[in-house]
Amino acid sequence: MIPSILLRSLVHSKSCRSSAVVTRLQHSWNYEDNGSQGSRYPRHHAILAGVVGAGAGIALWLKYHLTAEAASSLLVADKEVAEYGAYKDGMPEYTLEDVAKHDTVDKRVWVAYRHGVYDITDFINEHPGGDKILMGAGGSVEPFWALYAVHKNPHVLKIFENYRIGNLAAQDVGAMVKDMSDPYGNEPRRHVTLKPASQKPFNAETPLAFLAENLITPNELFYVRNHLPVPEVDAKTYELEIVDETLDKEKMIKLSDIKKYPKHTITATIQCAGNRRSEMMKVKPVKGLSWGQAAIGNATWSGARLCDVLKDMGVTLENTTALHVQFEGLDTDPASMPYGSSIQIEKALDPQGDVILAYEMNGEPIPRDHGFPVRVVVPGVVGARNVKWLGKIVISEKESDAHWQQNDYKGFAPNIDWDTVDFTKSPAIQELPVISAICVPEEGETLKVVDGKVSLKGYAWSGGGRKIIRVDVSTDGGKSWQESDTLVSDTARHPRAWGWSLWEAEVPVSEGISETRLCVKAVDSQYNTQPENFENIWNLRGVINNAYHRVNVKLTR
Ligand code: MTE
Repeated sequence: MIPSILLRSLVHSKSCRSSAVVTRLQHSWNYEDNGSQGSRYPRHHAILAGVVGAGAGIALWLKYHLTAEAASSLLVADKEVAEYGAYKDGMPEYTLEDVAKHDTVDKRVWVAYRHGVYDITDFINEHPGGDKILMGAGGSVEPFWALYAVHKNPHVLKIFENYRIGNLAAQDVGAMVKDMSDPYGNEPRRHVTLKPASQKPFNAETPLAFLAENLITPNELFYVRNHLPVPEVDAKTYELEIVDETLDKEKMIKLSDIKKYPKHTITATIQCAGNRRSEMMKVKPVKGLSWGQAAIGNATWSGARLCDVLKDMGVTLENTTALHVQFEGLDTDPASMPYGSSIQIEKALDPQGDVILAYEMNGEPIPRDHGFPVRVVVPGVVGARNVKWLGKIVISEKESDAHWQQNDYKGFAPNIDWDTVDFTKSPAIQELPVISAICVPEEGETLKVVDGKVSLKGYAWSGGGRKIIRVDVSTDGGKSWQESDTLVSDTARHPRAWGWSLWEAEVPVSEGISETRLCVKAVDSQYNTQPENFENIWNLRGVINNAYHRVNVKLTR
């Protein structure tokens, strides 16, 4: 297997020409995976644009991923999607050779999926970036769906079926993925108790009750949020590229170089912007993984301070015009574009900001799922900026132009929908607001009332280094409140309290009732507290879901 870092440099030189394609591609796969899309195109256009545009990148990507694994594992159709792309009686039959002849608008643009052949010319004609997406025309979309299995869902396939013109000749069905290995064939082993939100890419949360048991979340139970297959990186050959666009400098540093800097250890919570999205979804659907309350974890992270590494390059607030520090991962999409995002230069250069190039998580080398061998930990800031498998740092006057910085992980007013959203209008989420959750009991559980009281446990956290100063709980749906009995955290103080607090409470319940609604809200060191309900903070992406957490329980005595 070619090491990822080598693979990356091989494909990088070719990635520029694909950038416009990639924009469309990202719209597409984030539509299902993350749920976002740009403002300019109707939803189904974005999906198809991505599907088609992926082709050129996939070919390149696959070149380095071929093994003898059977195609069947890639084509297994779930029951609910099996009807799409199925053989249809009475339709004309075409070979892949026929499909390949239709790779321009003039010749009509065709693509294949399972037994189906589709003419998507009309879609392309309407599409402003049509000329770019033709790169993937005349082929099969199956390799794409092998990578983003999450797209193979009934909604996407139903739209696709509208463009059906025929059946693919039997001998060609599956041909384009015949020798293709599963892009997810080299994923790390995961703890069986992690609760997956999606398998490919792998996304999973910690069992909720477990979260409140441990101030430090064990590595193997820490939630996982991956957008792409986990890259395989060899620590011995690993190199981090650092480019300063403003001072026109660049250098490569090895893991051993990073380890020469003073080892800095912090306790920091990392939380996905979509944590608790499933609760917001109950108000009105949003696009994205349906996370419960456990897309969050607290760990100790050790590594070199980013400010020390940048100081060595001569970067200081006084001598640079840079406003941002961009990060790129070694995980790349089929068009060879890496995962990426950025933070503001003030945070990166602030010794009190504690941004680290981490190589240890809870005293061990960072596990593969969490960014081996190096990830940036940006404490107090949304998970998306904590780039894993860090491959490149760019000091720049501009934000990262990656999808995850520009067209995702942003908040909007509740009235904004997918037809009106303009992603340029909202800043990228950085520091997260105060949040809390009840971990024990869980929704629908039966609780034993002892001496007229019930026991609750949970977590509370605030971004930006704000410490939790109080947690309030209610056993009557929020009519009355009392402070939690305990609140435990590490010793860090505001404004460098990067880790969460765990709390416990024994709270009286009214006599004679057999069910009730528990609530929690937290207060941080700036006296910020949580919004009361999700109706008022609903946003189309389902991010920053920090309304009071409510849990309905039954009571026994
Ligand atoms: N970095 C890379 N390279 N690729 C990714 O997919 N996901 C981001 C971030 N860093 C991601 C990444 C997101 S959205 C989150 S919430 C956190 O990693 C999750 O970190 P974890 O998987 O270690 O919990």
